[in-house]
Amino acid sequence: MLDTLHTLIFPADAAAALEAARVLRGGGLVAFPTETVYGLGADAANAEAVARLYRAKGRPSFNPLIAHVADLNAARAFGRFTADAERLADAFWPGPLTLLLPKTDGCAVVDLATAGLDSIALRVPGHHFAQVLLRAFGGAVVAPSANRSGHVSPTTAGHVAADLADRIDLIVDGGPVAVGIESTIVSFLGEPTLLRPGGIARNEIERVLGRRLADCAATNESAPPAPGMLASHYAPRTRLRIDAASVDPGEALLAFGATRVQGSPLATLNLSPSGNLEEAAANLFGYLRILDQSGATSIAAAPVPHHDLGEAINDRLRRAAAPRPPLDPEAS
Ligand code: TXA
Ligand code: MG
Repeated sequence: MLDTLHTLIFPADAAAALEAARVLRGGGLVAFPTETVYGLGADAANAEAVARLYRAKGRPSFNPLIAHVADLNAARAFGRFTADAERLADAFWPGPLTLLLPKTDGCAVVDLATAGLDSIALRVPGHHFAQVLLRAFGGAVVAPSANRSGHVSPTTAGHVAADLADRIDLIVDGGPVAVGIESTIVSFLGEPTLLRPGGIARNEIERVLGRRLADCAATNESAPPAPGMLASHYAPRTRLRIDAASVDPGEALLAFGATRVQGSPLATLNLSPSGNLEEAAANLFGYLRILDQSGATSIAAAPVPHHDLGEAINDRLRRAAAPRPPLDPEAS
């Protein structure tokens, strides 16, 4: 059974941070802005609240959550840092980086949130409101992206409301996010491994580590290393095809830069007319949502270069284009 709630929407100010912290303490669910995408927060130490969060998203409970804390010092209570992990935290926190570490003995995050694993994903978000909220709340806040499971991640409060209104207690509106794509996840369970490309490019991380990151695909061929890294994810309802050189009649075009694409699309949005990958990342999920509403038979995405943030953009496009499993009625 689903809780049906009347969802409140507050602007992201100091009063909203206090109210959001109060709702979290009471076991409620709060969507709030981070610099990457909007997150759906729950008290990481409250099993009932975490169970409600999985239910509101329609998320399978084998898919663990990222715990958000205010700073590196707070993170040390939850995860066991190696010297390399410390180096990345120093360089990139607060910011769009998530570190996957062995749990500490006293880790105050409920088993449901880590899907019973011995590891924990930790992130210190860079967004001002997220920082104020985490400090007001005091503990760790688990926060997956604030969308229905499998759907496109939200980059505005309106996207959150479209997916989750009446399933959560509060939405804090901080305007459109800056980065637009989820955090980069690096695992320190073995050799440093890139589990999910994201808001910080691989080469920036490799520069700080002074070595190459292993690839999850290279270390693990059968099971996805992050249970959430299913092939089909981030999906609009309309079919998407990638690396399109032409558009068919009735198709919409997701363009990039000055690349010419043959045909006359029903609708066109250009991720970045000047070919700027940061701008393209910030526009990606919002543009997918708009083209999803365009009435097109499918969306053709032009090629995006693979360097810097292009790796994360191409990862999300590839997942959005992957064949879908049958729709879970709870998640649709
Ligand atoms: O930018 C972000 O990271 C956003 C904002 C809201 O912070 N959050 C986010 O969360 O993208 P979510 O739940 O959509 O993605 C978290 C990913 C999933 O693929 C999950 O499987 C993986 O992190 N993950 C979390 N804990 C893990 C663990 N202990 N072991 C392996 N993978 C883990
Ligand atoms: Mg997500």
